[in-house]
Amino acid sequence: MGKKTILSGIQATGNLTLGNYLGAIQNWVKMQDEYDCYYMIADLHSLTVRNDPEVLRKRAMQVLAIYVASGLDPEKNTIFLQSQVDAHVKLNWILNCYTYMGELNRMTQFKDKSAKHADNINSGLFTYPVLMASDILVYNADLVPVGEDQRQHLEITRDIAERFNAIYGQTFVIPEAFIGEQGARIMGLQDPTAKMSKSATNLNDVIFLNDSPEDIRKKLKKAVTDSENCVRYDKENKPGVSNLMTIYGLIEGKSMDEVEKEFEGKGYGDFKNKTAEVVVKKLQPLQEKYYDLLENPEKLKEIYESGAKKAQKKANKIVNEVYQKVGLIINS
Ligand code: TRP
Repeated sequence: MGKKTILSGIQATGNLTLGNYLGAIQNWVKMQDEYDCYYMIADLHSLTVRNDPEVLRKRAMQVLAIYVASGLDPEKNTIFLQSQVDAHVKLNWILNCYTYMGELNRMTQFKDKSAKHADNINSGLFTYPVLMASDILVYNADLVPVGEDQRQHLEITRDIAERFNAIYGQTFVIPEAFIGEQGARIMGLQDPTAKMSKSATNLNDVIFLNDSPEDIRKKLKKAVTDSENCVRYDKENKPGVSNLMTIYGLIEGKSMDEVEKEFEGKGYGDFKNKTAEVVVKKLQPLQEKYYDLLENPEKLKEIYESGAKKAQKKANKIVNEVYQKVGLIINS
């Protein structure tokens, strides 16, 4: 039996955060030997909000550099820019015709995003989940590692795939969401009840992957805790401390029990310092590689060009099959 296929991606909007790394990319790195992995930079999805074109291009290269600097091997994985594999948008159109307005109307992310961008509720924002379904189905991905906030988009992807299969016969693999353990969701440092977000307005809420050691220490020192002064995991009542424990535990490979034991009798000051040190130590080599890569655009180009080629090969096959099934004439 062949390897299972994985696909995931991160938008090219904003700087990547410690949450992206610990919650997503670090796990991807662990899967690269066992699975056939496709990791893209979702630059088309980034267009649902307004961007400065130069900044968007820069961000795309930054995300690519972070992927590689984090240890995703471009030889083992197919790493590419979504916009460079036409098959995604070809399938997107077709799948739009098999997705109901009512289904899209139920998407909570659409409701949240249109509340946030009331001046720009474009139809791309509305059909965003259909492009995401296309990203996934065009590789027949078995597993899709995503955060909890994307679960609904995975469900609509499955519904669209099942609907298509029911009409045209077995075409798409029905993908499963691959949602990491509870702990893999990193929350904001200032508001630990909301996910750490690269678009946060309060910069102290977020550790960016390219933050300097001083900034990392400062932000962790300021992180919201509680008045108990006891390092104990209790997400409900101690969301701030629990979040810091999650960060510490994920980096050190320790369970919450082990972290509790380690800091027994110690105060938040000690705990925050120690957490800052492990974060800094973890990010230092990553940042070195990241800046090296950014200074080497030729190398980055080589990676995304060969990634797009590999991705296209697989995606074109599936799009052709779909074209055939729905009654289009393939120009070979
Ligand atoms: N919507 C995802 C996010 O914002 C990014 C994304 C786009 C994605 N296409 C995807 C994730 C396909 C997984 C699979 O996080």
